[in-house]
Amino acid sequence: MKMKMKIINTVREFQATRKEMRGRLGFVPTMGALHAGHVSLMERAKEECDIVVASIFVNPTQFNDKKDLETYPNTLEADLHALENAGVDFLFMPNYSEVYLDDYRYEVREKELSKTLCGKVRPGHFDGVLSVVMKLFNIVRPTCAYFGEKDYQQYLLIKGMCEAFFLEIEIIPCPLVREADGLAMSSRNLKLDSTARQLAPLFYRELSKCKNLHECRLNLERAGFVVDYLEEEFGRRFGAVFLGKVRLIDNVQI
Ligand code: PAJ
Repeated sequence: MKMKMKIINTVREFQATRKEMRGRLGFVPTMGALHAGHVSLMERAKEECDIVVASIFVNPTQFNDKKDLETYPNTLEADLHALENAGVDFLFMPNYSEVYLDDYRYEVREKELSKTLCGKVRPGHFDGVLSVVMKLFNIVRPTCAYFGEKDYQQYLLIKGMCEAFFLEIEIIPCPLVREADGLAMSSRNLKLDSTARQLAPLFYRELSKCKNLHECRLNLERAGFVVDYLEEEFGRRFGAVFLGKVRLIDNVQI
């Protein structure tokens, strides 16, 4: 197959290529191991923009757990096909030293929202996310950027960062994509063994159906989940649970 999509690995080459790009540029940053949730963001960008840029960069500074970083799935061959099929024009795929020239001496930090929900148990996680997204935004210089509501807290923090630092980038939230059985699509689902995978959709069912958080916690714990948190905020119900070593997150509108 002849690729129409151009793959760029260095900041310098991306910046040179960027000078030639005209029109509305839509950007979709990812860490790879792509699934239909990621692809939905690419397709939305394709509909709304003249040029679509995706990135794959497994950002080490947002992993508070070294083991999680080391075992993060890599499905590059399949990813390239998915991106090509979705009509992505450019894939930016840098290595660590390209992105972190400073070796993470500089960071972007948020002091309130990033300490709640997922931030409580993942210290430094959102600092790593905001820092890498700031770097990627400055390299790619998109008109708009697409983020999934699967990571709703991340979406809010990135939108807030753009406002706080006067970045003129439209941050576009996209609906959470689920498996047929309701499980929120996630690269980490690949790490579930078959028993855990069968149990996993109960998380979404409980989150959306139970009367209150107390009942939700009881039902999940009874079924074998270890509940990290369940909270209601921003008109949504948020949850994070462990099935064995795999941590799953989800949120539903209430
Ligand atoms: P990653 O987990 O690869 O996700 C990339 C984008 O896909 C994020 O905007 C995420 O919210 C979205 N996404 C993931 N699963 C989804 C689903 N089931 N439905 C809809 N959208 C989904 O999020 C990151 O990478 C990183 O933190 C990143 C922003 C790239 C910074 O490193």
